[in-house]
Amino acid sequence: MKVYLETMGCQMNKLDSELLDGQLRAAGHEIVGEARSAEVVLYNTCSVRGHAEEKVYSRLGEQGKRKRNGRKELIIGVLGCMAQRLGGGLLKRFAELDIVCGPSEIDRLVEMIAAVAERRDRPLAVAPPRAKRSRDVDERANRRLDAFDLSRPVGPTRSAQAYVRVQRGCDSFCTYCIVPYVRGSEQSRDGRTICREVRRLADGGCREVTLIGQAVNRYRHRDGDRTTGLADLLADVHAIDGIERIRFVTSYPAGFDRAIFEAMRDLPKVCEYLHLPAQSGSDRILKAMNRKYTVTEYLDLIAEARATVPHLVVAGDFIVGFPGETEEDFAASCELIRNVGYKNSFIFKYSPRDGTPAADRMADDVAVEVKRRRNTALLAVQNEVSLAHHQALVGTTRRVLIEGLSVRAHKQPTPPAPGLVQLTGRTRGDQIVVFEGPRSLTGQFADVTLTGATALALTGRIAQR
Ligand code: 5AD
Ligand code: SF4
Repeated sequence: MKVYLETMGCQMNKLDSELLDGQLRAAGHEIVGEARSAEVVLYNTCSVRGHAEEKVYSRLGEQGKRKRNGRKELIIGVLGCMAQRLGGGLLKRFAELDIVCGPSEIDRLVEMIAAVAERRDRPLAVAPPRAKRSRDVDERANRRLDAFDLSRPVGPTRSAQAYVRVQRGCDSFCTYCIVPYVRGSEQSRDGRTICREVRRLADGGCREVTLIGQAVNRYRHRDGDRTTGLADLLADVHAIDGIERIRFVTSYPAGFDRAIFEAMRDLPKVCEYLHLPAQSGSDRILKAMNRKYTVTEYLDLIAEARATVPHLVVAGDFIVGFPGETEEDFAASCELIRNVGYKNSFIFKYSPRDGTPAADRMADDVAVEVKRRRNTALLAVQNEVSLAHHQALVGTTRRVLIEGLSVRAHKQPTPPAPGLVQLTGRTRGDQIVVFEGPRSLTGQFADVTLTGATALALTGRIAQR
């Protein structure tokens, strides 16, 4: 069948979709680029903010209409965090919806599509709801999901970069966040399985791996007497031939094992890049968010990281308009951005999520206009800081892993000169670089001399070899 798969949300979802794409193709399905020509339409959804969910509702509305208006055989599925969060409620709300499949059941999706095609079942597959703050782990589900991660197609046509899951779930319970409820309890995969996966990727031509987890610095796997932490895992992955760059995201700013900074300093493949969301620059708000650090502790951690890892690049996340956030609290977030000098920050307006402590117990009392204004203002501060960060690199030459055509080249495919296209790639510090070169460089490394900077990216030219 022709399958359209749209992915929203974080790296976990992107990885799940990539794996799913492989399974669908292996089962003989064809992946198509638009919903219009598809016989199966799948949405891999995100629940982290209301906005992401509304987008899915509108897509389901459109597809439901198509189905009622003559496309009776169309199969529609909701996967991912919204499926887990809303479960059967989605089937009730959308009569045309066929499949609701949570992240823990995604390895069964191909089967579910077959069941719908044959018997017009309406499969609902989600994990049992997480009992209040339980740390229970479903070992059987884990083995299934490990097999799913290992099923990934590898080979020369795949990208030179890959995400590798090292953790599932989350036990942080930040008061605003839905993730611990939809992705289950936090658990770390066996390092040997992770290395097996990375070795396969490397053999297939992958050069850069990003180890992903909701609090990746808390990675910890016990096997008998041996406990492997993230620093050990980085060393193990570092030993795999073919891999040239290793990153890890996202880190949580408390309980940070300093051995990780030492690993970043001592292992040349580990990139000097840290995604360390602060969420707010106000201690009062951090406390209400159940973030387990103060601004001073956060700044001390960054200072320590920078003292250990030369040229460390830091990226962040911030939420504006959390319940009770005053102008003073907000000003503290602006100040933190300036103090840290982030390369970039992802900035979000607070969105109450049913079932989280913040939504259940705190009034969403910052007006929409105020949230919007703070969002714009914080972004302006970050842009200033990002521009200065990028400008400081102009004139230097950096090694870039080339990802492919730039956004502009995608939009207007007139080549800048015969045989050349506008390419984009990233430095070890995750800085985006745009430059001209032959398209055949995609997936390779090049040394690029940086000639210009904006808040978002650098421009440059390939250095003479
Ligand atoms: N509202 C707004 N932003 C949120 N995030 C998580 N939950 C919410 C919410 N309820 C943001 C955090 C997190 C990022 C992935 O999304 O900044 O780091
Ligand atoms: Fe969205 Fe969080 Fe789910 Fe990722 S884990 S898809 S960010 S809700």
